[in-house]
Amino acid sequence: MCGIIGYVGTDRGDDALEVLLDGLSQLEYRGYDSAGVALADGGIDVHKREGELAALEAALPRERFDGDSIGIGHTRWSTHGPPSDANAHPHTDATERVAVVHNGIIENYQSLRDDLAAAGITFQSDTDTEVVPHLIGRSLDEGLDHEAAFRAAIDRLEGSYAIAAVFDGTETVYAARHESPLVLGVADDGHFLASDVPAFIEYTDQVIYLADGEFARLTPDDLVITDANGQVTDPSVETIAWDPEDAGKSGYDHYMRKEINEQPTALRECFRGRLDELTGRVELPELGDLEPRRPVTFVACGTSYHAAMFGTRLLQDRGVPAQAFLASEFDADRVPIDAESLVVGVTQSGETADTMRAIREANSVGATTVAVTNVVGSSAARETDDVLYIRAGPEISVAATKTFASQQAALTMLAAALSDQRSRALVRELRAVPDQIQSVLDASRAREIAETYHGAEAYFFIGRGYHYPVALEGALKMKEITYTHAEGFAAGELKHGPLALVSEETPVFAVVTGDGKLAEKTIGNVKEVEARGTPVVAVTDGQSDVERYADHVLEVPATSAVASSIVANVQLQLVAYWTAHELGRSIDKPRNLAKSVTVE
Ligand code: F6R
Repeated sequence: MCGIIGYVGTDRGDDALEVLLDGLSQLEYRGYDSAGVALADGGIDVHKREGELAALEAALPRERFDGDSIGIGHTRWSTHGPPSDANAHPHTDATERVAVVHNGIIENYQSLRDDLAAAGITFQSDTDTEVVPHLIGRSLDEGLDHEAAFRAAIDRLEGSYAIAAVFDGTETVYAARHESPLVLGVADDGHFLASDVPAFIEYTDQVIYLADGEFARLTPDDLVITDANGQVTDPSVETIAWDPEDAGKSGYDHYMRKEINEQPTALRECFRGRLDELTGRVELPELGDLEPRRPVTFVACGTSYHAAMFGTRLLQDRGVPAQAFLASEFDADRVPIDAESLVVGVTQSGETADTMRAIREANSVGATTVAVTNVVGSSAARETDDVLYIRAGPEISVAATKTFASQQAALTMLAAALSDQRSRALVRELRAVPDQIQSVLDASRAREIAETYHGAEAYFFIGRGYHYPVALEGALKMKEITYTHAEGFAAGELKHGPLALVSEETPVFAVVTGDGKLAEKTIGNVKEVEARGTPVVAVTDGQSDVERYADHVLEVPATSAVASSIVANVQLQLVAYWTAHELGRSIDKPRNLAKSVTVE
């Protein structure tokens, strides 16, 4: 996720460049691949570089700390165009009258870009953001003042944005937001804006959260917020009580908890511009002209493999032959794939060695390859024919949480596209998932379950159909961060062996939604364990009578089997998180594990 920062200081204030660089370093946790700043004291001075902040610092002129008092800065997490100096922010109009930084995705950027190009504008980058300074520049040409030109540009944007702009020769930073975070900081000797409080908490703990649709004008002595109609609002200033040390986690104890809570936002980003409610179509232009209904082979590891299993079932249910391989077990000499095959590598990081090897083998036999990944410019993105980005934003905690939900969402859309299926019902169900996850996050009783069972000998997870990969994922999360034995099973397999393991010391988590055949059968398996005195926790939508046989219930809203798998998994993430919390484990960095596994 990109990070933005802005500062206007009074004469007594700090040096703007120092404030911006400090702020950007505090935003590093969001993940980034390039960084840049624009200083605006008598002319706009832009410096930007691909790579780490150190690369930007090295590129700054020696006399850099010379007391400039106005500037904006940015850490870029690529979404449109690979990491490069040119794609790094800030972006300017052709004559450098305005510089802009942006976090979010401008959905209608292509049509804006086409209009601007037709009017003779030459673009310097591949980004969606660059349309903004050019739109502002056009309005300035037409005689609008800075504020009016800024508002006119923002009015033309569709999508999500937190945007800040500085103009040549003024002591003002303008900002606007829609569905991307933006917080303002109020200090005696200046004003700040940023994607997140840590960026300026060293300077002030007085903050104002800008609401969707609001605009801000920051000058050294004044901070004015207006609504979409230009009416001045009366914002409340809040005092942040965090220790700067904890601020990178936005007040959460762990990145994992923060990332679990970010899932509604992550999924909205994943769906943005890709779901057409009118036609029921899923729009994935990034897949080019992949012909539908071609047999699909997934390759993936760990959590991503569970997502691949989910994707396999989605395709099979739509009549498209599909299979999923653990990438470490994939061998192109043995698996019948050829130039007609479509091989999809599912990998959050885009760097996992086993998955990359499998993708390379698929490439070597001439198969068409697709990466479903979170990281723009990653090896998987570079070495496949097409890429579907899951847009979850960076994940810091070793245990994958929001990227799994985003993989499930992306693969649901991929399956609809590859089976050439239109379904308004599916589009509606997917659109509802972020709010449904939010309702689970707001009311989950997972912490009570963890308090009751954190001393268990082992945990078992069962599910059928779309809930089978969720059972596997629930167990993986539990073992990864609690260091307690946990296993997931297809519910029907329980009686073929694992039942010998269940006891009063081994809680069984059963994912049961709907009231159809699969629910009925899973309830049969629940009865088998309940009869042996084993505690049962049902993750359920209340449509069946599983509650009669369960000791505890973790509720999820009623929806389709596909959508409820995405939502039910959140309850299991929370159970694992709170259990690890009770046990005092190192939640974000579990022993022996690494975030990106780059060896086979
Ligand atoms: C578990 C987890 C791992 C990864 C696996 C593949 O929480 O994160 O199991 O899913 O190492 O990683 P990616 O998706 O980066 O290929």
